[in-house]
Amino acid sequence: MIPTWAQLLYLAGAVAFILALKGLSGPKTARMGNLIGAGAAVLACAIPFFYVDDMKHVPLILAAIAVGSAGGFYGARVVQMTQMPQMVALFNGVGGGAAALVALVELHEIVELDHAGLDVETFVLVATAFTVLVGAVSFAGSIITFAKLQELMTSRPVVFPGLPVVFGGSLIGAVVLSVLLVREPSMTLGIVLALVGLLVGVLLVLPVGGADVPIVISLLNAFTGLTVAAGGYVLSNTLLLVAGTLVGASGTFLTLLMAGAMGRSVANILFGALKGGSTLGAGEASDRPVRSAGPEDVAILLGYADKVIIVPGYGLAVAQAQHTLRELVDVLSARGIEVDYAIHPVAGRMPGHMNVLLAEAQVPYEQLIEMDEINGEFKNTDVVLVVGANDVVNPAARTTPSAPIYGMPILNADEAKQVVFLKRSMRPGFAGIENELLFNPTTTLLFGDAKDTLGKVLTAVKAL
Ligand code: TAP
Repeated sequence: MIPTWAQLLYLAGAVAFILALKGLSGPKTARMGNLIGAGAAVLACAIPFFYVDDMKHVPLILAAIAVGSAGGFYGARVVQMTQMPQMVALFNGVGGGAAALVALVELHEIVELDHAGLDVETFVLVATAFTVLVGAVSFAGSIITFAKLQELMTSRPVVFPGLPVVFGGSLIGAVVLSVLLVREPSMTLGIVLALVGLLVGVLLVLPVGGADVPIVISLLNAFTGLTVAAGGYVLSNTLLLVAGTLVGASGTFLTLLMAGAMGRSVANILFGALKGGSTLGAGEASDRPVRSAGPEDVAILLGYADKVIIVPGYGLAVAQAQHTLRELVDVLSARGIEVDYAIHPVAGRMPGHMNVLLAEAQVPYEQLIEMDEINGEFKNTDVVLVVGANDVVNPAARTTPSAPIYGMPILNADEAKQVVFLKRSMRPGFAGIENELLFNPTTTLLFGDAKDTLGKVLTAVKAL
């Protein structure tokens, strides 16, 4: 039995998790929200040490906490901003895997109770089977998403003949095994169920193309949340139940929001490749002629404009050019030019990627304008400076039904008087398709790494 004082502290921890999420929903309060969440997690880990009687495993538990903390600390220090999605995938995977392992340990106890002739509540058995299965799916799926994003394997959809049959078969197998486990609890069934869960996780993620992987990470995150909630029920732990439900709900919302921002359904993202519909992946560089210019020409365009909109994208993060960009915007603003940043909801490779990147360079939050708010402004804009973005300004999303990004809302950069692209080559963006805007008569390209070209434009603007 968990003593009342511990239950009350768990409740306080659950409230702290809710406050943490509230804090994370805004840039000004996000840091505080993060700290509150971390504090509540430390509290949650510490409480059991003060009420559990059987202390023989304490050294092992402390050793596991030390290894986990050291790994987490090292990972958080060395990870690059552009590698954040795969870091989240790994964290999520170990969360799901841990929930499945805890459920297997619980199953061991349930089997012993069953052998001793004691009744176990059916719902506890259902929750245990659910945690083993979905935790294993989440673990294996997250490892595959990590491998895809880290380029340890191809990021293209992997499909093979018979995949839908094998996938469907393993899903049915998982359901049958779960029912058997609930009727007749046994460790063998539990372990086979976990193995089938691992197979389902791998087969679920293999057909997903690289650009869609972050959405699947969010979905698997929701899965992990639900397994943790079910684990909380099995262990009669309020805090786990609340924390898991919060993760499950927020992961589901995030998945739906991201899919909506890309103009796709979650089903299309997961199963599009099985129908031969998903073409996301690397594409060919175009050799059609474009108008390119030097940094001085771009400086003149910018320096004599009245209104400029910056469109940041994934390439800004790759080049780590956010500080130089901010300096350029400051110089332009000092010349009396109105400058705003247009933030597309899926610019970059994870939700809020551009917001975090620009916040790192101390860009005032008021200058970051969301897509819906700024889209009407482009037609009154002299120059749009597209820094390392491509898909989020690709008009094919409006005009080409066969394009994989068709239906995705985009920034109306093509409505501005002039558009300047900063990119290294004619390679396409993540969706792997050509961007007609690059060939517009009003478009100018400045080739090179964005940090380098922005630095040169900055010097030239200062010299005007
Ligand atoms: P992308 O369309 O991927 O375009 C990035 C551009 O940056 C490319 O044109 C690339 O061209 C350029 N680039 C790369 N490194 C550069 C460097 N060092 N200097 C200058 N330019 C550089 O990016 P986007 O417009 O941000 O769109 C995001 C894409 O990711 C969308 O397709 C979106 O659906 C997808 N996605 C996003 C998310 C989230 S939540 N953000 C989730 C899933 C999928 P070069 O190679 O020629 O330089």
